[in-house]
Amino acid sequence: MNDVLRLSGVSVVRGAKTLLDGVDWKVREGERWVVLGPNGAGKTTLLQLAAARMHPTRGTVQILDETLGRVDVFDLRPRIGLASAALANQIPEHEKVLNVVVTAAYGVTGRWREAYEKDDERRAFGLLNEWGMGPLLGRVFSTLSEGERKRVQIARALMTDPELLLLDEPGAGLDLGGREELVYKLSELAQDEFAPALVLVTHHLEEVPPGFTHALLLRDGHVVAEGEIDGVLTEKNLSETFGLPLDVAANAGRYTAVRRATAGAAV
Ligand SMILES: Nc1ncnc2c1ncn2[C@@H]1O[C@H](COP(=O)(O)OP(=O)(O)OP(=O)(O)O)[C@@H](O)[C@H]1O
Ligand SMILES: [Mg+2]
Repeated sequence: MNDVLRLSGVSVVRGAKTLLDGVDWKVREGERWVVLGPNGAGKTTLLQLAAARMHPTRGTVQILDETLGRVDVFDLRPRIGLASAALANQIPEHEKVLNVVVTAAYGVTGRWREAYEKDDERRAFGLLNEWGMGPLLGRVFSTLSEGERKRVQIARALMTDPELLLLDEPGAGLDLGGREELVYKLSELAQDEFAPALVLVTHHLEEVPPGFTHALLLRDGHVVAEGEIDGVLTEKNLSETFGLPLDVAANAGRYTAVRRATAGAAV
């Protein structure tokens, strides 16, 4: 299996703050990773590196056999799908749903030419249908519900048929039904052998879709644990990552975590 992503000794420093500290991480073709950690752990920073949207202060980042710093990132970015709040914020207020997806083919947000290739429109339409958004393709993006927006963003991230798909908290702001729909769809994607390598960032163990194969836990810019999912999502590792004693349960591929009831229980 080929490496899709390889970080070696990667640190990101901004002023006095170390956002990531000596991170080593490999993602191979076919793997489905979940990245978990508390607020400020460095998850978004990690995805920004993986999306070729940030360079490390130290260490090397290799993405799809290219090394950041030695490649034109504008050639690399279409090979990587990214859905994040920061990207969604760049979508112009009056943009139609179909255009939000189709513009990914041109590496932009916001309609920039009058006529798109018919093939691109067909692909965007197909992806919106797959994500249950076909009926809403003529709507203005800003009028969609949070859950609908997330699905459009994922369809957009898939538009260029990327080799690596990065999702930064796609479940944020969703109600129970919305979250469960998303987890179901992501689980389907995880089990699709033709789907790209996946990296999903979340705060919530309940959002880990069945079929995800690996996990990376981050705290204060450090990797607490990484590897095959069952070995990583343990009570010990998760308690250390989130800084409180947790009881963790796994049932039919889904995980839950709650604070351990016993006062003063050891972490
Ligand atoms: N330019 C910057 N200068 C200083 N600190 C920064 C800068 N950018 C990010 N940080 C800090 O780096 C830390 C990691 O940020 P990051 O966005 O990667 O965290 P995160 O794990 O994605 O958090 P969240 O779960 O809240 O999204 C945070 O404490 C953040 O405030
Ligand atoms: Mg973040």
